Amino acid sequence: MPALIKKAYKFSFRSSLYLTVISIFFIALLLYFLGEFSLGLLIVAAIIIFTVSFILLQYRVERFIYRHVKRIYDDVSLLESTSFHNQPITTSMGTLTKEIEKIAKDKKLEIETLKVREAYRKEFMGNVSHELKTPLFTVQGYILTLLDGAMDDKAIREKYLVRAGKGVERLIYIVKDLDMITKLEIGDLNLEYEDFDIVDLIESVFEMFEMKAKKKNITLTFDMKYENPIMVRADKERIQQVLTNLVVNSLKYGKEGGTTEISIENLIKNKVIVRVTDNGEGIKEENIPRLFERFYRVDKSGSRKEGGSGLGLSIVKHIIEAHDEKIYVESVFEVGSEFSFTMEKSK
Ligand SMILES: Nc1ncnc2c1ncn2[C@@H]1O[C@H](COP(=O)(O)OP(=O)(O)O)[C@@H](O)[C@H]1O
Ligand SMILES: [Mg+2]
Repeated sequence: MPALIKKAYKFSFRSSLYLTVISIFFIALLLYFLGEFSLGLLIVAAIIIFTVSFILLQYRVERFIYRHVKRIYDDVSLLESTSFHNQPITTSMGTLTKEIEKIAKDKKLEIETLKVREAYRKEFMGNVSHELKTPLFTVQGYILTLLDGAMDDKAIREKYLVRAGKGVERLIYIVKDLDMITKLEIGDLNLEYEDFDIVDLIESVFEMFEMKAKKKNITLTFDMKYENPIMVRADKERIQQVLTNLVVNSLKYGKEGGTTEISIENLIKNKVIVRVTDNGEGIKEENIPRLFERFYRVDKSGSRKEGGSGLGLSIVKHIIEAHDEKIYVESVFEVGSEFSFTMEKSK
């Protein structure tokens, strides 16, 4: 940075020059009156005066600026003053200006990030309370109606209690989802890797949702018969959660009498890909990119018949990504959807 160095010495250089000129003028005058005028002597004096004042000034200015500037840094503790220590101290204000500009830019960026985070936090809180409100009001409604006299009728009493119970159930799973997503987002979720048979795990998920599937007359099946176990290495409980969320979605958004099919394929040498395919309502292309966002639901109307927090797929994505694996979605509106994710095979 030659420009910087030139600038840095300019102040001392000029000041020394003025000092030299003034003192040489007086020295010349003095010598003249003493009748000892000598050009050689004057030149030597000029060189000495210039050098000494230049060095002295440069030193003093550096010290002065260093002390003051460092105090600014320390006082405001804008930056770790070490970053300043390492730089050569020059008398140039340019360096200081540059440093301060850099600090200002950093701070601005920090503020922007905080603003974004704050906006996200507000949105999150808004979403949470919105999601909780609906089931809470439902439960409250049934309880109030019961207290208002509906509990005298045995048939109604039972019906309303069952409905209130469902509302509470819904509240519980929203809170559970929230708890899970919070843990996932603060990275509090320690994966417990183990080797297990993915075929076996899928079978147990199928069993879990047999009843639910029957209600909508949906068939839960593998694409073929998997006679041998397929051993994978992952956090079994979390992968069960992934499969559960995907299967529940395929039932929720599946057509009456449809099929949910799961396949396991070898991918590259140490990976498998698990696909969950349904022939349900499908997803319009414009909605696909946002599917994995928290609280995102294609059907935003409050009157949707299928409950859900809109957190299921973002939980799925978090879990798969925590495993360093990938999740994919392909869907054709009114034809069906396929969600797939990769897993690592056991060695
Ligand atoms: N298999 C599927 N078929 C059609 N749409 C789906 C499917 N899975 C998810 N979706 C859409 O993605 C949205 C987000 O899913 P998810 O995060 O699981 O939330 P939720 O199921 O609670 O609504 C759903 O609301 C639905 O619109
Ligand atoms: Mg879901």
